[in-house]
Amino acid sequence: MKFFIDTADLAEIRDLADTGLLDGVTTNPSLVAKSGRNFIELVKEICQIVPGPVSAEVAAIDFDTMLAEGKYLATLAPNIAVKVPLTPAGLKVCNILSSGGTMVNVTLCFSAAQALLAAKAGATFISPFVGRLDDIGYDGLSLISDIVQIYDQYPGITTEVLVASIRHPIHIVESAKMGAHVATMPPSVLRQLFKHPLTEKGLDQFVADWAGTGQTILDKA
Ligand code: E4P
Repeated sequence: MKFFIDTADLAEIRDLADTGLLDGVTTNPSLVAKSGRNFIELVKEICQIVPGPVSAEVAAIDFDTMLAEGKYLATLAPNIAVKVPLTPAGLKVCNILSSGGTMVNVTLCFSAAQALLAAKAGATFISPFVGRLDDIGYDGLSLISDIVQIYDQYPGITTEVLVASIRHPIHIVESAKMGAHVATMPPSVLRQLFKHPLTEKGLDQFVADWAGTGQTILDKA
């Protein structure tokens, strides 16, 4: 499973890129607004830090402007994935951009039927939002299971399932068990993945026992 982080915070992106575990970044208009940065400059900087796909979302909702924005965003860096909403206009734009070789991430997916449409439109990624479904009392993870199962029936579908709106590590582990290709998560959730109380306890014990030996490994290095 590939790991993307869902943030427009450059310090977080730099820090987590350093782990060598980051495969890409997703942003959205709300995250960009929170960053207070100029969108175009921000996206260019992110693309330099992370070589994998960087999702940059169009702002318009009408077809003509959305297409123009998508084409422009695609010129910013070779690793841009243009993010479009799951609407008729968005899927029309998806079709055109993906036919021209641009990566497209179709966002705001809340049903398996929508995911089928995105695959037919040639999406590189489909972004089902698990957390927002859970928030309204639906089962977000069952949507991931449905989409993976449907896509698996058709070898011609190359669209990757990008699990979005992740709230906690269980969303990631369960999606990985289902075979979802990518998880995009807030930086805090990526950091949570490292944690286990027994790892911390075990490490404290090893450090204490090692100190008791009075040795250093690099003594004769
Ligand atoms: C995905 O690309 C979206 O940016 C994101 O995952 C939305 O998550 P939220 O529901 O936490 O805002």
